[in-house]
Amino acid sequence: MTYRKKLIEVALPLEAINKASAREKSIRHGHPSTLHLWWARRPLATCRAVLFASLVDDPSEHPEEYPTEKDQEQERDRLFRLIEAMVKWENSNNKELLAKVHAEIFKSTGGNPPPVLDPFAGGGSIPLEAQRLGLEAHASDLNPVAVLINKALIEIPPKFANCPPVNPEAKKSLMAGDWHRAQGLAEDIRHYGKWMRDEAEKRIGHLYPKVTLPKEYGGGEATVIAWLWARTVKCPNPACGAQMPLVSSYWLSKNKGKEAWIEPKVDHTITTPMIRFTVVVGEGGPIDSPKVGRGSQFTCLCCGSVTSEHYVRN
Ligand SMILES: C[S@@+](CC[C@H](N)C(=O)[O-])C[C@H]1O[C@@H](n2cnc3c(N)ncnc32)[C@H](O)[C@@H]1O
Repeated sequence: MTYRKKLIEVALPLEAINKASAREKSIRHGHPSTLHLWWARRPLATCRAVLFASLVDDPSEHPEEYPTEKDQEQERDRLFRLIEAMVKWENSNNKELLAKVHAEIFKSTGGNPPPVLDPFAGGGSIPLEAQRLGLEAHASDLNPVAVLINKALIEIPPKFANCPPVNPEAKKSLMAGDWHRAQGLAEDIRHYGKWMRDEAEKRIGHLYPKVTLPKEYGGGEATVIAWLWARTVKCPNPACGAQMPLVSSYWLSKNKGKEAWIEPKVDHTITTPMIRFTVVVGEGGPIDSPKVGRGSQFTCLCCGSVTSEHYVRN
């Protein structure tokens, strides 16, 4: 096989690629970044441009078509314009443009483009873009979260491309037979996602009640969305018996300007005293936690008894 220099080895329209890549950070609707958090996500625009330019020949490799340097420069410019258009987010699913892009790749690869393998695929930007460019894409990663993201992004949707949804409500819908790309799959995910949410609300919704917000948090009602959880032991003092939270710090956030911590309050009005916590934000900081020294010894907030390490561990 004769080696032919690829466009990426000669030049790239970097300014347009950088601009489109930077812009992607603020795009949320329809972007894979909303599928699942991934901390080292590569911009789709860069991956798209790099894959394309790694497969398409530099015009200097075709002197029969572009004999002079000027001809080559002109052809390179044409390829640059194509890259500049394809990296734009709005063109991600532009059929005509993608058809032109496929045609260029086919031309440079004798109609048989190589498959793309990203063995460290992370958030899946490279295999996703390879698939968009009409290439056979393979991905793997050591991290199971990355594997799941890649399955959801590039493995499962093509299997259901152009398929109608299967949920009973959509089956009755007027759109029967008119489902393109991942529309049917998306409809099913929406339907069954809602079903799961509703079921979860039915079964555990009582654990996430509505609470009245203090004025400093904006007032009104809000739904509890998360609980902070701590191990507890029963206070060894038989006259107390309170559940002692085994926490080593009351800090929730030490970020500058966003300091937050919890403040314990003991309710002695009931037979077995109970500790309630309130979240405090602003300047200052929490009181010392009930942890004593370096081991697993804790002070009871209700009666001041100190547990032995043996008691806590057993
Ligand atoms: C920089 S990230 C890849 C980012 C990715 N290109 C993207 O667009 O999101 C590197 C990835 O390599 C994976 N990795 C590291 N060591 C690995 C190994 N030995 N085998 C497979 N994957 C590995 C990590 O889990 C991580 O997801």
